Amino acid sequence: MLALPPPVEVTLRDGRNCLIRPAAPEDFVGLFELERAIVRARHGVVKHEDELPGDVASYADVQVRAGLAATDGSACQLVAELEGRVVGEASILRLRFRMVNHVGVLGIGVLPGAQGLGIGRAMIEHLLAWARSHRDADGGGVRKVELGVRADNLKAVELYRALGFVVEGTRRGLVRADDGTFVDSLSMALFIPR
Ligand SMILES: CC(C)(COP(=O)(O)OP(=O)(O)OC[C@H]1O[C@@H](n2cnc3c(N)ncnc32)[C@H](O)[C@@H]1OP(=O)(O)O)[C@@H](O)C(=O)NCCC(=O)NCCS
Repeated sequence: MLALPPPVEVTLRDGRNCLIRPAAPEDFVGLFELERAIVRARHGVVKHEDELPGDVASYADVQVRAGLAATDGSACQLVAELEGRVVGEASILRLRFRMVNHVGVLGIGVLPGAQGLGIGRAMIEHLLAWARSHRDADGGGVRKVELGVRADNLKAVELYRALGFVVEGTRRGLVRADDGTFVDSLSMALFIPR
């Protein structure tokens, strides 16, 4: 049983050390600001800034209601902390019902100024290690990790492929991009062998 993974320190491409650890309630301010910064940068996103929760309390409410703050193994949310600041977030949120709760949905975001340093890869590797080792009380656990990614988000698609995810399907024209064109979304997945 590993309900949440232990913290780990990783050395980034620029030589700095970054702490990857489970998210805690005191991270809500940092996570709120992180999501805003990523959405403002307009790369790889499927939301507009005015669609985000307006303040930290509503943000925290959305996160808790979504189940991301759970510590019972139904979710795992990590933050990357660099020089005291939350610069990345990655999570696996398992589907709710027993027939499908071996499937977890992955979400990830890294602060624009901290991208390309290895934080995204390190967070996913840590999440996958948790998925491989976590066991529910009945012996179950995560057997498949799924995600959706804009087909024009080449960097993210490349990262997922490098970690073993494969494209299972294409949701054609799912996203209306800022220029009004319609962009496909790729459904990618990775099986977790036992
Ligand atoms: C996608 C994202 C999470 C990746 O995180 P990151 O910290 O920037 O990525 P990393 O530095 O760990 O790079 C990981 C891999 O990405 C790929 N990559 C990085 N920069 C790249 C580039 N300029 N072009 C192509 N691939 C690139 C490489 O495969 C790299 O592998 P490597 O470790 O062997 O070099 C991050 O860029 C991000 O948050 N983007 C905006 C929001 C977003 O797209 N979220 C995902 C939605 S599905």
